Amino acid sequence: MSTTDENSTPGGGFASVFDTEVVGRWSAPGRANLIGEHTDYNDGFVLPFAIDRRTTVTVGRRDDRLLRVASTFDEGIVEISLDALDPAAMSGWSAYVFGIAWALSEAPNRATAPAFSAAGGDLSGLDLSSATGLDLFIESDVPVGAGLSSSAALESSVAVAMTELWGLDISRQALAAVGQLAENEAVGAPTGIMDQSASLLGRADSAVFLDCRSLDSEVVELGFETAGLEILVVDTHVEHAHATGGYVDRRRSCERGAAALGVGSLRDLDVDDLERAAEVLDDETFRRVRHVVTENQRVLDTVRTLRTDGPAAIGALLDASHVSMRDDFEISVPELDLAVETAQAHGAVGARMTGGGFGGAAIALVPVDRRDVIADAIRASFADAGYRAPTVFTVHAADGARRDS
Ligand code: GLA
Repeated sequence: MSTTDENSTPGGGFASVFDTEVVGRWSAPGRANLIGEHTDYNDGFVLPFAIDRRTTVTVGRRDDRLLRVASTFDEGIVEISLDALDPAAMSGWSAYVFGIAWALSEAPNRATAPAFSAAGGDLSGLDLSSATGLDLFIESDVPVGAGLSSSAALESSVAVAMTELWGLDISRQALAAVGQLAENEAVGAPTGIMDQSASLLGRADSAVFLDCRSLDSEVVELGFETAGLEILVVDTHVEHAHATGGYVDRRRSCERGAAALGVGSLRDLDVDDLERAAEVLDDETFRRVRHVVTENQRVLDTVRTLRTDGPAAIGALLDASHVSMRDDFEISVPELDLAVETAQAHGAVGARMTGGGFGGAAIALVPVDRRDVIADAIRASFADAGYRAPTVFTVHAADGARRDS
């Protein structure tokens, strides 16, 4: 091997921290959401794709009862005993890792919860009394806090590694529910199931069309390359956190709206119901509901348009999604609006913020031959506005979680 720096080889840092023998390496991608925002926890539709930025976990088997984790982005080793696996005992980024082990053991007790029963219900969970420990070394090139789901990449890479090493028979759909359970209860962020589904089910050059109620999913070809298009990501570096604040508040508004309208979830409404909703709800709750209901319709329209007319025809749907998030759901920030407007003004097919909002990233669907002009214009507009310089880069739709070696 020509490299002399052990840390530049994937998994190479493992040996500088742990003395167990490496038994394998698994990875999972972050995701960008093409369209369908804040619809997942409303039982609605989403259309995310896995991106070519991945988190890799290199694993060694231990013969004791310890789970130990280290990474390139933090000093030292964090450990927990399999006898002490409990959400209350977890904190910081290692909660994403230990939370997966806990959720794998907890899954059979949750078999009737919607996400697990939709995924098939019958789960072979982790028998904590017989499992032995693991050493896990984490590396990632998924930007953290950019709205590209570095958390789901971490959860899903660890989930596929643990599932295989502990000999569990769990479908990818159920594994997405395991990731969501870990994030909801071990990390404490009340997020939906979109991110883990994209990271586990993604396919190259395709998006995952997911019905978040039935968990039925279809792989939808994006056709960007053939159409001469690419996705540009603009990471605004405005920080967001889904365990607190706006995300939780929006979720409650949706629940309130559904209850006031007498439906189990906003999925049960369609655009024709909005007139009645306007009469029953206060203005703010109505606008929250209108976003979700129209966004569900935009996901269905985007899937249909991709299939009938190709990706160059979906721009207006992306643009309308952004307006709805900015004005009705009120989860955009000035930096995201500027990124979207500048992309649109310089020849993007369409643009919108992506992810939970309140910061993070915007995506723009751009002709490859306009990419650099658009990226430069966005950087210049941020400088003019006195905003922190954004990071602008392209992403491609990639395969989901897998074993790499
Ligand atoms: C975050 C959550 C997802 C989803 C999006 C908004 O990414 O993790 O479950 O709710 O926000 O669409």
